Amino acid sequence: MDFSGNHILTIDQFDRGGVEALFNVADKMVPFANRDRITKVLDGAILGSMFFEASTRTRISFGSAFNLLGGSVRETTGFEHSAIAKGESLYDTARVLSGYSDVIVMRHPENGSVQEFSKASRVPVLNGGDGTNEHPSQALLDLYTIKNELAFRGRGIDRLRIAMVGDLKFGRTVHSLCKLLALFKDIRVVLVSPEELKMPANLVEYLREQDQVVIESDALEESISNVDIVYSTRIQEERFNSQEEADIYRGRFRLNQTIYTANCEPNTVIMHPLPRDSRENARELDEDLNDNPNLAIFRQTDNGILVRMALFALVLDVENEINSSARDTIWYTAGRSL
Ligand code: NCD
Repeated sequence: MDFSGNHILTIDQFDRGGVEALFNVADKMVPFANRDRITKVLDGAILGSMFFEASTRTRISFGSAFNLLGGSVRETTGFEHSAIAKGESLYDTARVLSGYSDVIVMRHPENGSVQEFSKASRVPVLNGGDGTNEHPSQALLDLYTIKNELAFRGRGIDRLRIAMVGDLKFGRTVHSLCKLLALFKDIRVVLVSPEELKMPANLVEYLREQDQVVIESDALEESISNVDIVYSTRIQEERFNSQEEADIYRGRFRLNQTIYTANCEPNTVIMHPLPRDSRENARELDEDLNDNPNLAIFRQTDNGILVRMALFALVLDVENEINSSARDTIWYTAGRSL
């Protein structure tokens, strides 16, 4: 697949070679993300960061990734601060903002909106999450994390056994992750959700068409007993008609250290795209797991920087120039290490 100058809108664009190429570039970003080295390869370039929906890590990590490559970030957050609140169309907004930026990352509550925006954009657009549809950069950083966690255990991605737990209907991260896993071999996916929040049937079918094993369940404990990864998700309350409706499902599948010890194989990796809902009635991943070395959630967030740096480097075609402008860091770096 060709990244150069292209939009990154959906995992449908990826093949296995593209994923591997991206991960190779991500590996090369480690000294820069660690602040051991500094590169100015994107000096003068501007990222237009447009988040029309709540975001902490996706927005900040895309911005930080661009800064770490030497570029600058211009941000718009929330409809109320943009001309969309005055009735401006996505087409006009895209025509205007693509004149101010070299690349744009966008999040929007409507499915397909980022794709629509990209058609009018004069520069590459990266999908930071469109409604309940897709969140490709999250799936890529999740798979990069899975690869690293399994490599530590002497394994590759093929033959992965993963349980995805929670709101599989509205959770865009698991939609993109299913599409990504379908590119690999002998994957076994256990989908654990309430009946009403099941993974969309087209994604289940797609996995099966690619000869992957898919099991659907509404029972947590038996589903996490023989998997390599438990990937927990939050009830996507903003997609429900009311808080009361979301409350029906919140807290249905809770993983804590006691349940983990009683059911999981040793070294089962625990993942979550975050934010985890830490309120009393939710706690899909209890804080008593924080000292469990298999809790990979903050390794996921750290890896988000590497994968997003790699996406920018490939889309802007500088992946072979990163070191040409690099130097060592001269300030004190507090032993950060990825
Ligand atoms: C996810 C999202 O926005 O889809 N968050 C993220 O980007 N890491 C998951 C969520 O909000 O539950």
